[in-house]
Amino acid sequence: SMAKGFDLTAAIRTIPDYPKPGIQFRDITTLLADADAFRGAVDALVDGHRDEQVDLVAGIEARGFILGGALAHQLSAGFVPIRKKGKLPHDTIRVAYSLEYGVDEMEMHRDAVRPGQRVLLTDDLIATGGTAEGAVKLLRELGAEIVAACFVIDLPDLGGRKRLEALGVQVRTLIA
Ligand code: PRP
Ligand code: HPA
Repeated sequence: SMAKGFDLTAAIRTIPDYPKPGIQFRDITTLLADADAFRGAVDALVDGHRDEQVDLVAGIEARGFILGGALAHQLSAGFVPIRKKGKLPHDTIRVAYSLEYGVDEMEMHRDAVRPGQRVLLTDDLIATGGTAEGAVKLLRELGAEIVAACFVIDLPDLGGRKRLEALGVQVRTLIA
């Protein structure tokens, strides 16, 4: 992508064989450190959602927290974290999930979302969609209305977007 003097694709670096052999890891730390690219990515992600009355942005640990805080500020929404298990101090709901390179469990606070609240889900990247699907399950268990799920990067060969769309979730991504 190329717009307004920043190139998101060029701002992302690829690390071979991380965290496991055969994985080409798309590393957004370089994008986050580039002021124009970071602002450009956040602006592009919020663009479609300004008029959708988003109550809360839900960010997936860890890189979804960085994007999600910025998105929440731009949308005048609250922020709720979806965390790896064992990190949240109050009553939680938990879901097991699998991702491109492993399995894990994640949690939300039971009182993080009230039924009917409109939630925008975010993370840096969607690969298999296993992580995002787990997040959708948690949010729906709490009665959230998922406005959309947005990601900087889509790895389309891994099918995550289609998996989320099959769950009835609108997906927005910036680069493939
Ligand atoms: C990465 C990425 C997404 C997920 C995508 O996080 O940030 O959350 O994997 O993969 P999927 O679509 O196949 O589920 P990771 O699990 O590496 O965790 P981290 O943010 O704690 O490094
Ligand atoms: N980068 C970040 N997270 C990921 C990746 C990646 O390339 N693949 C699966 N999750």
